[in-house]
Amino acid sequence: MAVTTASAPGKVILFGEHAVVYGQPAIAAPVTQVAATAEVRDTPPGTPAGVRLIAPDLAQETWLATSDDQDALAAAVRQVQAAAGLPQLPNLTITVHSSIPIASGLGSGAAIAAAVIRALTRHLGRPDLATAEQVAALAYEVEKIHHGTPSGIDNTVVAYEQPVYFERRQPHNLIETFAVARPVHILVADTGIRSSTKAVVSDVRRQWTASPAAFNQLFAGCGHLARSARRALEAGDLASLGQLMNENHRLLQAMTVSSAELDRLVAAAQSAGALGAKLSGAGRGGNMIALIEPGREASLRATLLAAGARQVLTSVLK
Ligand code: MEV
Repeated sequence: MAVTTASAPGKVILFGEHAVVYGQPAIAAPVTQVAATAEVRDTPPGTPAGVRLIAPDLAQETWLATSDDQDALAAAVRQVQAAAGLPQLPNLTITVHSSIPIASGLGSGAAIAAAVIRALTRHLGRPDLATAEQVAALAYEVEKIHHGTPSGIDNTVVAYEQPVYFERRQPHNLIETFAVARPVHILVADTGIRSSTKAVVSDVRRQWTASPAAFNQLFAGCGHLARSARRALEAGDLASLGQLMNENHRLLQAMTVSSAELDRLVAAAQSAGALGAKLSGAGRGGNMIALIEPGREASLRATLLAAGARQVLTSVLK
């Protein structure tokens, strides 16, 4: 019985969340300490026919044929079926595991979709549909179920598995991978508070509609920071990068997407000597990131845990 497995990492937004939905540039990076994995297995003859979808971590077990259109796992499978032009799929069991906390800003939904798409396209003998570009495009369609108006940055970074500079554009997004001049050490600390990206993104839209001038200015400020951050990353200027993160956090506070818990972790990191810190992702819960000097990891991690972080991951961009 043929078995195909594939995975996709978690992600952090380094600069530009929310503003990216409005066409400003943003930078995201994979977090490989956590990942989603999908396994596609031919179902042995004699067992019930169809495609079985199993996600033990989500306590989910369904059949593709009877799943509803809000089921993201089923949506990922249907995207592959349509892209491959198959009227019917063979009998399969698709099992998904993920160590990425859900609704925490680490791109869990995008990573699960990308892992399923990558494993299934390969299993069906269609490596042409398993490229980063194709996986990102198919995962974007799945993201729409959860997020309404996603910018496309989450599915892009988990499909490319590299830091990306991203701009939402018509007809094609700008997606640039780039080299960092020096390793960038980041701590990713979870407030433990779950937050719906769709809800926060639509609340920002409501505020933007009510105060377009003020919000356009905030978004443009974030775009300016993302452009400067890319130059700082390419030059290895970590001190400037940290300052830019602090400024981005202030703009996100002005957008009302921070929270007391996020602000506490950001302030704790800043006063304990992090080069910079900000919330990451949609906000109002989820994760924050702190830029640290190598060697400071243990003490900064202890600081963040003492300030209420539920989990602290490390990520090094090279
Ligand atoms: C979520 O990771 C990032 C947001 O900018 C939403 C999006 O880009 O779709 C908040």
